[in-house]
Amino acid sequence: MLGAEGAWIGTAFLATEEAGIHQFQKEALVESGDTDTVVSKSVTGKPARLVRNKWAQAWVDAGKEPLPMPYQSMISGPVLAAATQAERKDIAPGFAGQGLGLIRQIRPAREVLEDLVRSAEESLTRAGQFC
Ligand SMILES: Cc1cc2nc3c(=O)[nH]c(=O)nc-3n(C[C@H](O)[C@H](O)[C@H](O)COP(=O)(O)O)c2cc1C
Repeated sequence: MLGAEGAWIGTAFLATEEAGIHQFQKEALVESGDTDTVVSKSVTGKPARLVRNKWAQAWVDAGKEPLPMPYQSMISGPVLAAATQAERKDIAPGFAGQGLGLIRQIRPAREVLEDLVRSAEESLTRAGQFC
C-alpha cells in the first residue's frame, strides 16, 4: 500500500509445520513477542537477529566481543549443538526477525501464505479509497 513491489519474509515461515527447524524452536517463536529479539555476533561472529537467549546474553554480561567470522562458530557450534540436543529454547531458540510478535501458532505454510495474500489484497483494496 506504501508502494513496495515485494516483501522479503523469513520468520513467519519458520513457525510452520514444513519448516526444517526443531519443534522446540518453533515453540520459542510462538511464545516470544516483538521485543524478544536481540542483534548479536555470538553465533557466527557477524551480526544476526536472534530470539533473546542466554548464550547471546552471556557475551554481553562478560563484556566480551565475539570472535570474527569464521572463528566464533568454532566456539558457539558445540555449545549450541548441545543446547539444541537438550531442546533448550532458553539457549538455542534460533534466528528470528522483528515480525516475531505476529506469530501466534505453528501453522501450515499454505495458511501463512494465504493470510499474507488476503491481507495484501485487503490493504490494496482500501488504498483505492485514498485516490
Ligand atoms: C533463519 C534465518 C536466517 C537468516 N540468515 C540471514 C543471513 O545469513 N544474512 C542476512 O542478511 N539475513 C539473514 N536473515 C534475515 C532475512 O534475510 C530477512 O531480512 C528477515 O528474515 C526478514 O524479516 P522477518 O524474518 O521478520 O520476515 C535470516 C533470517 C532468518 C529467519
